[in-house]
Amino acid sequence: MTVTTANPYLEGNFAPVNNEMTSDALKVIGTIPSELSGMFLRNGPNPQWAPIGQYHWFDGDGMLHGVYINNGKATYRNRYIRTRGWNIENQVGKAVWSGLLEPPQPNNPHGPGKNTANTALVWHAGQLLATWEGGAPHAIKTPELDTIGEYTYNGKLTSAFTAHPKVDPVTGEMMFFGYGFAPPYVKYSVVSATGELLRTVPIDIPMAVMMHDFAITENYTIFMDLPLTFSMQRMQQGVPGLMFESNKPSRFGILPRHGNNSNIRWFETSACYIFHTLNAYEEGDEVVLIACRMSHTSVLMSEKTEGDGDIPRLYRWKFNLKTGSVREEMLDDTPSEFPRINENLQGRKNRYGYSGKAAPTSVPLFDGVIKYDFEKSTSQIHNFGKGRYGGEAVFAPSNKNTYEDQGWLITFVFDSNTETSELVIINAQDITSEPVARVLIPQRVPYGFHGAWVSFE
Ligand SMILES: [Fe+2]
Repeated sequence: MTVTTANPYLEGNFAPVNNEMTSDALKVIGTIPSELSGMFLRNGPNPQWAPIGQYHWFDGDGMLHGVYINNGKATYRNRYIRTRGWNIENQVGKAVWSGLLEPPQPNNPHGPGKNTANTALVWHAGQLLATWEGGAPHAIKTPELDTIGEYTYNGKLTSAFTAHPKVDPVTGEMMFFGYGFAPPYVKYSVVSATGELLRTVPIDIPMAVMMHDFAITENYTIFMDLPLTFSMQRMQQGVPGLMFESNKPSRFGILPRHGNNSNIRWFETSACYIFHTLNAYEEGDEVVLIACRMSHTSVLMSEKTEGDGDIPRLYRWKFNLKTGSVREEMLDDTPSEFPRINENLQGRKNRYGYSGKAAPTSVPLFDGVIKYDFEKSTSQIHNFGKGRYGGEAVFAPSNKNTYEDQGWLITFVFDSNTETSELVIINAQDITSEPVARVLIPQRVPYGFHGAWVSFE
């Protein structure tokens, strides 16, 4: 099967691969640290068939690429996530669902939409889940990457499931939300450390919005009601249902982790869009949030906006729970996205953060990774090299994780000079140096979305 079209998200290293393979004893340039034992995983869109109509990068079927690492050796696997939609389209032999840029298909005989499971991954309560914000997560078997099926918490899941749930590293609880286009627009859930869905409460917001991420602190959960709104009325009038409304405020709602809508406090700033948060924590009377902010987004529209409104930059917000004031400041004017931290500090004050350095290209590529030291207000850059582009750099802590940055940053890098892919392992304490190891992958790994490190220690 070959997908051919002029869409940049179906060409070059965005083009899908259709071969599923397992390959062990991979060639390594450098040395894989012996303390590194686990699996690096990356999710991303990989359409099984040529699209119906226009293709959006968010539309493709989820494919996992994984590198299992043990005793300095590496094994690569890639597998489609066998969702219900993937199975149906596999039997039919062509696409039966269109994507985000095409009109909805309420009368599609196979159902109104496809849960592609293509966005991110979370490990919680001994289970790997592949996530997609429009539906239930999918349970995945490790290290095989076989799909077990939709994961509904024994039928207790009553909402969609964000691609970016947050696991508290101390209590083991996992917080998630789901949003939809009918009230209640947002539902918020807490899962126990043992994987039991404890409760789900509605969160009131005035209008349906696209809500991609959120944040937690030790005691609070932070929702982002940003003005990328959805209106059925607009759609019925023949204009895009989803629009960025720059005349509306951004609203940040903070509620106690085990609270409900009656406990939420909203803070307003000027219009912006945030795909991803880096972290949040409490400090005195304040809740601090660090995230990649854009002053505008046109990501779900077919046309691009003028100017640099779509460029993400790292910002910090301080929400004062006593006075109700909010302070917003830019931390770095270097464009970056896909921020990550040492997740042992999720919800706690972190000194370091890592964010993909956006390349000056018309499609979203990262030409390096930036390490931020928030204590010293400094940053360092690891450049992937000329013509080499990487993905989200995931922090894998050393099993001797005495210091916050003691560990490695891991990502797939595509070398456009040789059209080959590698897994790059960078010492997080020495990021300007060459990678400690470059694991050569025996097939092309298309650019994708989010990764995860699962330790099997
Ligand atoms: Fe995301």
